[in-house]
Amino acid sequence: MSVSEGKKTMKEKFMAEIKKVAQQATKMTPEELKFSYKGILYPSLLCSEATFQAMEKLDAREDDVLIVTYPKCGTNWTIKILHEMLFEIHNKEPTLDQAMLEFGKPEKYEYLNQQPSPRVMSSHITYENIPKTFFEKKTKMLIILRNPKDTAVSYYHFSNNNPVLPSYESWDLFFKDYITGNVIYGSYFDFTLQWEKHIDDGNILVLTFEDMKADLPKELKKICDFYGLALTDEQIKLVQEKTTFSSMKQNSTKSHGNLGNVFFRKGEVGDWKSLFTEEQSKEVDAQFEKYLAGTKLGNMINYEKYCTF
Ligand code: A3P
Repeated sequence: MSVSEGKKTMKEKFMAEIKKVAQQATKMTPEELKFSYKGILYPSLLCSEATFQAMEKLDAREDDVLIVTYPKCGTNWTIKILHEMLFEIHNKEPTLDQAMLEFGKPEKYEYLNQQPSPRVMSSHITYENIPKTFFEKKTKMLIILRNPKDTAVSYYHFSNNNPVLPSYESWDLFFKDYITGNVIYGSYFDFTLQWEKHIDDGNILVLTFEDMKADLPKELKKICDFYGLALTDEQIKLVQEKTTFSSMKQNSTKSHGNLGNVFFRKGEVGDWKSLFTEEQSKEVDAQFEKYLAGTKLGNMINYEKYCTF
């Protein structure tokens, strides 16, 4: 038995919610699908100012798992990894569904406060907007980075296939918004730079999508060490098998309903070459050079290897 086979009621609720917001989205213009809070754009059908304010009511715990990513950097993959790891240790289902910390109604934090540990939570919000409670409780945060070019291409397809996000008539139009940080959740570079300043604060583990693709067991062991999860090699292997792209894609209708194929699209490194022009590639190179070249996170992204034509 694996995590995905259980939790019927929670999953059903999640699916019903996806369906409901997708229907609402069909009646809205691209402008109506987003709103700005503290200078960053968010999806208006999923987040609200009231929810952001209520987030302060959340009581974080030392044994919470908080996965923080810029959109399209491997959030669902990492959530599944943690769920399967915790399932191996505790032999019970995760207590929360896959929705982001910032999605939903303001009352949700009272519900979260009542849920038993360990809680796996995820978010796309920037370092500065993470509720203070997580820092006070020294919650361990797992940050997943992905190279900015593949992230852009993944985000473009996602925007056009997920009804709750504003869609784009062309890749060129999306790229203009991406490079200026005018997309939902703001600039990739701002997001990453904020973490750069804090990665040595403690309780933070940074991994990359590309390293996970290249050698998943190695990265899984880093996660186990970080969270103190004593998984055997056999258990690591089981987690690996359940979290490969093909396995997750196969299971995606069960896990993500109609959006299964949207969340699990290609799962590759280097797909950016299918859409980027030479000029767009140079624009991202210039931004990388300006903001991230020579930084710790910039080095982890391995830009030369993954972002050169
Ligand atoms: P692509 O659009 O390039 O295929 P997120 O979960 O943050 O929205 O990220 C989605 C991206 O991660 C998608 O990228 C998706 O295919 C990829 N992905 C999801 N699960 C994966 C897995 N198990 N292995 C590799 N890539 C995965």
